[in-house]
Amino acid sequence: MAKKKEKSGSKRKRRKKANSKPKKASRKNVKSLKKKNPAVKNSGKLSKSPFVKKDRDNVQTDSPILMQSPRGMHDILPGEQAYWNQIRRSLDHAFLEYGFQRIDTSILEYTDLFVRSIGKGTDIIDKEMYSFVTKGRDKVSLRPEFTASIARAYIQHGMNVLPKPIKLFSTGTVYRYDRPQEGRYREHRQANFDILGEQDPVLDAQLIQLASRVIEGLGIKNIQFQINSIGCSKCREEYLELLKSYFESKKRKLCHNCKKRLETNPLRILDCKEDKCVQVSAGAPQSIDHLCDECRSHFKYLLEYLDELEVPYMINPRLVRGLNYYTKTVFEIWSSEEGRKHSLGGGGRYDKLIETLGGESTPAIGFALGLDRLVMEMKKTKVKLYKEMKPKVFLAQLGELAKKKSLRLFSDLEKSGILTAESFGRGSLRSQLRTANRLGVEIALIIGQKEALDETVIVKNMSSGAQETVTREKLVNLIKKNLKNNNVVSVKPKKTR
Ligand code: HAM
Repeated sequence: MAKKKEKSGSKRKRRKKANSKPKKASRKNVKSLKKKNPAVKNSGKLSKSPFVKKDRDNVQTDSPILMQSPRGMHDILPGEQAYWNQIRRSLDHAFLEYGFQRIDTSILEYTDLFVRSIGKGTDIIDKEMYSFVTKGRDKVSLRPEFTASIARAYIQHGMNVLPKPIKLFSTGTVYRYDRPQEGRYREHRQANFDILGEQDPVLDAQLIQLASRVIEGLGIKNIQFQINSIGCSKCREEYLELLKSYFESKKRKLCHNCKKRLETNPLRILDCKEDKCVQVSAGAPQSIDHLCDECRSHFKYLLEYLDELEVPYMINPRLVRGLNYYTKTVFEIWSSEEGRKHSLGGGGRYDKLIETLGGESTPAIGFALGLDRLVMEMKKTKVKLYKEMKPKVFLAQLGELAKKKSLRLFSDLEKSGILTAESFGRGSLRSQLRTANRLGVEIALIIGQKEALDETVIVKNMSSGAQETVTREKLVNLIKKNLKNNNVVSVKPKKTR
């Protein structure tokens, strides 16, 4: 009993503590937070209302909350959305025009799916996954890319019975726990295109053309496709042996990471950016010299198709990509701008992935564009942005009844396709019209007490100042007529009787 009393007493104390006035974030607290997390130094602001409480999962919640997105992640603010709208528009056109269907998969998958698909020995699996165990003891990870999820969905939903090829498009955030720097984030956005069920190199070429169309559609010029073929499981094995013995003989000259890669993934040494490894790689055997007949012919046809399409490309024998599921064609899209080079997108064939995951043998090819990098490139190259649709009509109101009527009228205008601005929260007509002026609308609609009772609206031409009163029934047609002709409403005020 005594124990019970003590328990409920401490509960009461905790509740009291939690409800007590929030403490201000002390200078000392802020200092120690900054020390712990250097990212706070520049922009971190601390909430003034920390809770003094430990929650059920024993998470310490008595320290000030850091008002900052997690490291390597960023918000896309309204001011940036013009770039993203341009990307969304370009993607929406492209995926429909090229016959893709959209698929949305979960952001979370069983960790094994990624390990099996992307493969051990890759940076993504060895270092970059956001993995955790759920309360139900499932090992899951945030998706570091889309392809594994697409392959899983293909098998799970029996898509193998659908007419081939199956073209799937997805877009969303992906997560890689890498060291953040310019153009490299822990959360970034990708647009992903995959074609499943056909092995003809013509699809490789068409996909590359699609990537080029999307990027050029954004106004980004001077891109270049880096292309290589890394062969199939037959010819790759022999090539890997050669490569391994070459790097073994130069082991002393390799960086620390590449010495490890020699055991886990020798192909990735070709991709290392360390100067000494670049020098060693320059003399390494090249995969295109060791392709089997089928892979050689596939690559030859691909290049011919690209020539036909006049897509600029460069054969890059050191391009191997950072995911293990690729076979035959691999490619990356580089900007030809000076300075630090980031790939804007990349992809390749993965003819064995679905089989590896337990599905029936299904050749496939795909690529993903890094959307945050595309935005960076659009800014850097100062691309011209589409003009956003701007409202040409402003709805102003005066008085409580007028506000009610305006709310309804706003919805009617929206249903009729007339983009209308308003500022319902403001009471003064003068300040509403000032907003209308600032927005540069052509027509202001005004509803006062009288108009609200009469079911009429005053239509004001913002450039001439002329105004007339019209009934609600006639209003939509009148606005449409005048906006369609790109005229502003210019009607002489009716004579009063
Ligand atoms: P990936 O090359 O790993 O390929 O990523 C695609 C693109 O995402 C990159 O070219 C780059 O633009 C962007 N990207 C990658 N990591 C980051 C990062 N940390 N921060 C910002 N942007 C980044 C794949 O993910 C494959 N799943 C592509 C694919 C689809 N292959 C076949 N189908």
